[in-house]
Amino acid sequence: MIEIKGLVAGYGGLDILRGVDLSVDRGGITCIVGPNGAGKSTVLKAVSGILRPTAGSVRIDGTDLTGRDPEAVLRAGVAQVPQRNGLFTRLTVRQNVLMGAYVIRKRRRLIESRYDALAETFPILAARPGALAGTLSGGQRRMVEFARALMLEPAVVLLDEPTLGLDPASLAIIGDSVRAMIAAGTTILMVEQNVRFGLSIATHAMVLTAGTVALSGTAAEIAAHPRLMDLFFGDAGHAGTR
Ligand SMILES: Nc1ncnc2c1ncn2[C@@H]1O[C@H](COP(=O)(O)OP(=O)(O)O)[C@@H](O)[C@H]1O
Ligand SMILES: [Mg+2]
Repeated sequence: MIEIKGLVAGYGGLDILRGVDLSVDRGGITCIVGPNGAGKSTVLKAVSGILRPTAGSVRIDGTDLTGRDPEAVLRAGVAQVPQRNGLFTRLTVRQNVLMGAYVIRKRRRLIESRYDALAETFPILAARPGALAGTLSGGQRRMVEFARALMLEPAVVLLDEPTLGLDPASLAIIGDSVRAMIAAGTTILMVEQNVRFGLSIATHAMVLTAGTVALSGTAAEIAAHPRLMDLFFGDAGHAGTR
């Protein structure tokens, strides 16, 4: 479903990703983990079109989307929930969600029915449609961001650190929401700084360090891998063991 090959991308002529390969099966959920600054968000940005790769390819369902602009990628069925997008704090819950339907804005009835359907997964949409986004809790904001990303019924959702800054109660809600997306047939590529949470929810995982794939496999394999901690924290105390 998602096929990334030899991806090279970066900022201002400096390569951050140095040849990343990754594939995600349809209906699967792959989690990218790795230390801060490894390039995890950069992978998602190169897929969603925010960043243009300098080499390699990104294919979704066989369609080559390498270097396409974000709107083209969105129309091809790939929606991103960025790490720090922030909702429009002075717009309502409903207005924020409807932003996600901008490219189909003339299809009012369709938009209404999708909003109502999403409200079953994300109760805040029905409970407080008129609430200003700026007044919501962190977990509630995440729900609105998810709903906004799902308005176009994307085949693929890119989630960047969905649990960042959330309390444990919200963590469970995020878990349920991600499972609801999977149940609806969505394919998910996510980045998580909470390794335990990310690996518990994913089917497959990849450890990214310094822009390269250090490990990849099933989530269970990665969770049990003896080098996982070293890859995060360096080899202090293990000098000479590699
Ligand atoms: N917009 C940007 N301009 C320049 N450098 C950036 C930009 N965004 C990220 N970087 C750099 O790219 C590297 C990888 O960033 P990122 O993909 O955000 O890492 P991660 O998500 O794994 O924490 C970091 O060194 C970061 O400082
Ligand atoms: Mg990041």
